[in-house]
Amino acid sequence: MVNAYCNPVRCYVGAGSLEMLPEILSSLHARKVLALIWSPEISALPVFRGLDEDGRFSLSCVLFACSNPTVEQIFELYAKTKQFEPDVVIGVGGGTIMDAAKSLCALRGLELKSAGDLRDAIEKKRFCRVKTPWIGIPTTAGTGSEVTRWATVWDPSLSKKRSIDCEDNYARAAIADPRLTAKLPLPLAVSSALDALCHAVESCWAKASNPVSRALALSAVRKITGNMEALTSGDPKAREAMSEASLTAGLAFSSTRTTACHSISYPLTMRYHIPHGVAVSLLLGPVCELNYELIPERAALLDALGMQTPEEISAWTGRMLARAGTPARLRDYGARQEDLEALAPLCITKGRADNNPAALTDAGILQILRKIY
Ligand SMILES: [Fe+2]
Repeated sequence: MVNAYCNPVRCYVGAGSLEMLPEILSSLHARKVLALIWSPEISALPVFRGLDEDGRFSLSCVLFACSNPTVEQIFELYAKTKQFEPDVVIGVGGGTIMDAAKSLCALRGLELKSAGDLRDAIEKKRFCRVKTPWIGIPTTAGTGSEVTRWATVWDPSLSKKRSIDCEDNYARAAIADPRLTAKLPLPLAVSSALDALCHAVESCWAKASNPVSRALALSAVRKITGNMEALTSGDPKAREAMSEASLTAGLAFSSTRTTACHSISYPLTMRYHIPHGVAVSLLLGPVCELNYELIPERAALLDALGMQTPEEISAWTGRMLARAGTPARLRDYGARQEDLEALAPLCITKGRADNNPAALTDAGILQILRKIY
């Protein structure tokens, strides 16, 4: 079987790219624009003030300050914005905001009366046929969600991580302007960069990988590891590099999905509230050791990582997290050794675990959890 690469998102990358927003909106014939924003500061940016004053657009900014949004929160947002009927939705924020923007576009036109209806639509993949166009503007450098089509929605009451997954729900444009990431606190900048690293590395070894995705992934890996020390030292140039690398990693895994690190991480985030980028990065070393012999371009991957052996990865991620003052063991987040056996079977996430080159078993996952405990 030959895997295909496809990504239709128009990408604007680099300092100043945010200024392209009015032109992009015009090209989409936008009049009513809904901007989902993470912080009120966004609506005060000159480009958003300009949109507000520009006679061509009617702009409505809606604050959505949640992280790891739940089915109930997404339903609330859907109900709150339903009447506005935008021509274009803009998501300006981290992965949560992108996922919320994608969700609204996939759900628009459906008659949902409750969070239960939303849960039902997600399970049955009942989304609207003609999506509202959306534009992704990341203010973190990690999720790559501006160039992928899936939206993660958490369902803690049923202990599930759900995905709004529509074939055609890609952004019409992604704008990665590193100026928007300049004020990110260091721990968030580092965990976001490590998330992007995992997207790229996992994309390299994913069963669904292909030559184009691997080229993108290796370039992102090299850029992230090459700039990580500088990022932890506060170098603004490193923020620019991470902004670009995060988008490149997103392009790579948009056609391959992720694998074991992400699969195992979800219950760790749901149960112990370990930030996503931290959870996946703790797993990167042990999963690389498990997969190593099955990685198609393993020498090139190690070279891009700047390492000699897969065993060096865990020490490196631990060092980067320490430089950001972030705890790097499972026990630091309240996990107990006796929890691990019951936790292991929950770490097999459909679509991620089965995309990993090495088979994941409960016993194998338990070993990995013990390694990072
Ligand atoms: Fe991720």
